Order: sequence, then C-alpha cells, then structure tokens
Amino acid sequence: MPSVYIKTYGCQMNERDSEAVAAQLVARGWSLAPSEATADAILLNTCSVRDFAEQKAVGKMQNLAAETRRARPGVVLGFLGCMAQSRGRELIDRLPDVDLVLGTQKFHHTADYLADLLAGRRTKIVDVADESGSEAAIREHLLNGNAKKSVSAFVSIMQGCNQYCTFCIVPYTRGGERSRTIPDIVAECRQLAAGGVREITLLGQIVTSYGRRELPVRDGKSAFVQLLEAVHEIDGLERIRFTSPHPKGYGDDLIEAYGRLPKLCAWAHLPLQSGSDRILKLMHRGDTREHYAGLIAKLRRVRPGIGLTTDIIVGFPGETEDDFEQTLALCREVRFDNAYLFKYSERRDTPAALMPDQVPQTVREDRNQRLLTVINDIGREKYNDYLGRTVRILVEGPSKTNPARLTGRTSCNKIVLLEGAPRHLGQVLDVKVTRTGSFTLYADPAIVNL
Ligand code: 5AD
Repeated sequence: MPSVYIKTYGCQMNERDSEAVAAQLVARGWSLAPSEATADAILLNTCSVRDFAEQKAVGKMQNLAAETRRARPGVVLGFLGCMAQSRGRELIDRLPDVDLVLGTQKFHHTADYLADLLAGRRTKIVDVADESGSEAAIREHLLNGNAKKSVSAFVSIMQGCNQYCTFCIVPYTRGGERSRTIPDIVAECRQLAAGGVREITLLGQIVTSYGRRELPVRDGKSAFVQLLEAVHEIDGLERIRFTSPHPKGYGDDLIEAYGRLPKLCAWAHLPLQSGSDRILKLMHRGDTREHYAGLIAKLRRVRPGIGLTTDIIVGFPGETEDDFEQTLALCREVRFDNAYLFKYSERRDTPAALMPDQVPQTVREDRNQRLLTVINDIGREKYNDYLGRTVRILVEGPSKTNPARLTGRTSCNKIVLLEGAPRHLGQVLDVKVTRTGSFTLYADPAIVNL
C-alpha cells in the first residue's frame, strides 16, 4: 500500500483541497504517511498570493530533490494548487526532479496520476487545464483521521473570483467564479452532521458572490443567503461560519440573516485592505471607507458583540503617509478583534505590479509594524474585557501547542484553551475565562459546568 505526505501552504481553501486529495487517496488504498521521511509520494499544495509563499514551496522542493530523492529515487514529487496553476511546466524546467504539476481544477485526478507515475506508465505529468464541473469535485472528508475535523468541518461552496483586485493573483490561479448547487452542498453538510460534525465553515474565494449568476434573488434573498438558510435547516448542526466574503457582498439580506439565523456565528471576516478611498480605488476593491464603516455599524446593531476580523495590505503602490494614516484611523474607529496584515507583494501579471510609485520595502516594513502595534493594543484590550466572563464554546479538539489541553471557540471566533477532558470534545460548554493571552482566552469548564 503506497503512502502519501501532503504539505499545505496558504489559505483554508488550500487546506480543504489537501484534505479532499488525502481522502480521495485513502479511498483508493493509500495510507497517510506521518512525515515525508517514509512517504512514497510527497505533494506540496502551494500558495501564490505573496512571493514569500512561492519561495517557501520552491525551497522545500529543492530540499526534497536534493535529499529525499537522492536517498529514495523512487519517491514521487509533486506540486499542486495555485503555484502549479500559474507556473505550470516552468516548474519542471526549473526543478527537473518534479514529476507532477497539478492545477487548481485538477485535484480530483491526483490518485489516477499518481498511480500512472508509480507504475511507470508516465514519467512527467503537467495538467493545469480548465475543467468544467471541477468546483463540485472537492467533497471528500477525512473525519476519522483528525479529532478537530470531526467536530468542525470546511465545505467548499464555490471556486474562483471575478473581482480582479489589482494586487491579487487569485483570479489567474483559481479562475472565474463557479458555484456548486444548493442541494449538492446541503447533501455534503447533512452527511457531515450525521457523522457528528457540529460546525461547518462554508468556503470560497469570495463566498458572498455564491450563485449570483445561476440562482435568482428570491423574496429579496441572494443566492448566498438562500444557501445559508438551507444549511441552517440541518439537524445536528450547531454552528455555521463562512469565509471569505467581500464587504460589498453584504447586502441587507445578509445583515438581516445575522439577526434571524441563530446558528450563524456572531463573526465576520471582512477584508478591508485599505482605509483610504484613493487606494481602494487603485486596488479595484469596489468599496469605500464610508460603506465599510456603515456596514460594521449595521452588523453591530443586529449582533451586538459580533467578532470582527480583517485583512489589510500596507505599502500598496502609491500609498502615501496620509493614505496609511487613514487606515490607522479606520482601524482605531472599527476596533477589530484581530487583523491579518500583509506587506504588499508584487505578483506577476497583476496590474498593481506595473503601477508607478512602488513603495520601498523599508516603508512597507515600518507601516506593517506601526499598524501591528495598533491592532495588537486594541486586541489586548478587547480580550482583557473577557476576564471573569462566562463564554459559550464549541470544544474542537486537543490544542496544537499542548495536546493535554483542549481548544474551543466562541461564536465570535475567539480561541479558548481549557483543561478539559476527552468527554468534552464536540460539546457546547459554558466556561469561565480565567486568564487572557495574545489573541487567546484561557478558561475553566469546571467553574461553570460541573
Ligand atoms: N500582496 C500582499 N498581500 C496580498 N493579499 C492578496 N494579494 C496580496 C499581495 N499581492 C492579501 C489580501 C487578501 C489576503 C488573503 O492576502 O489582504 O485578503
């Protein structure tokens, strides 16, 4: 029985794709190797969103070629996903030890291609073509392999993006928006719930665009809200989340859904990217700071205490000190629970890479640090506010850093660590926060529940 090791770079969509590939291989008789040291096939599922992510995967493959390949000549080496899609055959020209380059619409062919390579029927495979229907091919789960995934699962509802933000490579690596059908998604979620899953996160590059061309608005409800309602009906499911939306996709129907659907978690990840209208326009975001701030106010009105997180890029071409200060000011005004900060990274074939006034690296670093301080200070205050409070969490599994501890999350997506027992797994518990750390709450279930 051959074994595979998959290393994943990048976002939750990539994690989900890797899981589906692993599940597909297990169904075909493969085992999952605990590390690359013994695997018959090593696959790197790659990310292209920033240059650093690409460099990491290329460096890793160089390492595998130099060491693992030399020690075990029969091992199959492959690149999957976004960088495979955008670079294609060029990756084999650069790294001749690579056997397989598989694009983002081809994950479901992994088992067939690996079988061909292992049997020697083919020596190199590059497949980065478009494939209609591939958006519905990411469906298999590995519930038994991982305690966390058997409580909280990800479901891919769509692929691709049509927004064409000028900094972003995703429309070129993931293609245009393609959505699965509601019955197909609901069937997958039902099966997960029947297998014990309590929380589902609906995934897509731009989930609020779900089905907007295929499914007409009904009773004032967009396709995405219709999908939320359908998933909400599933018995046994406790919580629903989704990521990532676009702020302009938050129509009143979606805002109103937060007030109406109790399983919909009190959390929104709303990518801001910049607090300056001038930069937002250059980014082709289709959003303004006024709309963004208004949206936050509306969400807080329907769901007081809602957890709000965001993505921000600093040092976009042409960003002046004044633009950056507008980002700082908006962050102080909104008071995010957390924010993921990115230094602008030139991506080839994207319009922003060719824009004038590229910001020097030292300025990008400096703005990143300054913004990080603001985000961390606000985060600390917000987390400290929880001290002594009782919060309701879904217990997901052992903590990554200390397996003796359990980890769970509040509805507003705050991580809570606790000294629980295995019987707490998958339970919704009220726990008392006894300590706070960096973007983490520590709690004791005994104080409240027993
Ligand atoms: N440079 C820096 N950050 C980027 N992101 C996307 N493209 C780039 C880029 N070229 C960030 C955005 C996005 C997140 C997933 O990655 O903030 O929301």
